[in-house]
Amino acid sequence: MELQKKIDSTFESRFGGHGAVYASAGRINLIGEHTDYNGGFVFPGAIDKVIMAEIRPNDTDTVRVFSIDIDEYTEFGLNEADAPKQSWARYIFGVCREILKRGGNVHGFDAVFAGNVPLGAGLSSSAALESCFAFAINDLFNNNQIDKFELARIGQSTEHNYCGVNCGIMDQFASVMGKAGHLMRLDCRSMEFEYFPFCPENHSLVLIDSRVKHELADSPYNKRRASCERVAKRLGIETLRDADMDMLNAIKTDITAEDYFRAKFVIEEKERVLTVCDALVNGDYETVGRCMYETHAGLSKDYEVSCEELDYLNDVARECGVTGSRIMGGGFGGCTINLVENDKMDKFVEEAKKRFNEKYGHEPKVYPVVISDGAHKVCEATH
Ligand code: GLA
Repeated sequence: MELQKKIDSTFESRFGGHGAVYASAGRINLIGEHTDYNGGFVFPGAIDKVIMAEIRPNDTDTVRVFSIDIDEYTEFGLNEADAPKQSWARYIFGVCREILKRGGNVHGFDAVFAGNVPLGAGLSSSAALESCFAFAINDLFNNNQIDKFELARIGQSTEHNYCGVNCGIMDQFASVMGKAGHLMRLDCRSMEFEYFPFCPENHSLVLIDSRVKHELADSPYNKRRASCERVAKRLGIETLRDADMDMLNAIKTDITAEDYFRAKFVIEEKERVLTVCDALVNGDYETVGRCMYETHAGLSKDYEVSCEELDYLNDVARECGVTGSRIMGGGFGGCTINLVENDKMDKFVEEAKKRFNEKYGHEPKVYPVVISDGAHKVCEATH
């Protein structure tokens, strides 16, 4: 409510009157990291942290937009040559362009937005921003004719073509399709997905944010993806979804050690998603937790997307008897996701804060996870 009030009053003072309000969520991912662009499975859910925007068509061909959090205003046209310089505005421009490229309608609008998805924490604030605007533009100018999957693809293409991140589909998918109380298992090859009720007995999820910032653009993220694609090509398959360890071992001497370990992680990780889904249905949290620790080890040692601070948080979790813990998201900083027995939660959080502070000179942030709805309209312009 606070967020909406802030947006409402800023919109009124900048543009006068009101627009419709939309929101889209950040996400967590229980397991299945770096598998999306390899045609594998992921297991994300939307969270109760959102980007929210108030938007109103302005009968011009100019988009005028103010970011409350960055305290910056910009305006841009809708042609390719009109791309704004500010990186935050490129997400919105990219969404407009990608909709136009697909034959959809976009006209000028006035917008104010803000959010409470922590930036650079691996919770997909950028996907939330893209999905919020894609959802709004679909509602305002396209009679909701663009299907929700396509909205997610529009966000993904925005990352590829306007933001320099060669990401998979997971973040935008989760941000658009999320459903309160449910995780979603998505097969990133067929794009079939299933909602899984998520209400673990005696356990809760908590995120511990190292506050080490990650920047995926021009980053090792794209290099990880390139490694996987090289190995798939060498194996003569489209993606590593179709690879197994025997196939990989058979070409071990033809590829670099680095590419070998990247592919090994992906092959192991895609199996772990299926194991965790089954275990969750059976209430077998021990297996869920073991897989999470295995994922962390793989992301740290084989995929090399962890960092000292996150490895430390993982060690602390293990020492506190946390059921499962791992680095979450693209990596290179951000959060660990932890599955914790409820009666161990307070002690773990306290210990993680204290020990991390002693070692790195600042406390990590702590976010309890509430699985929530994805992109939606908050209210009409007449509010
Ligand atoms: C980032 C990307 C996603 C996915 C994850 C790693 O969040 O945007 O597509 O690849 O990293 O699982």
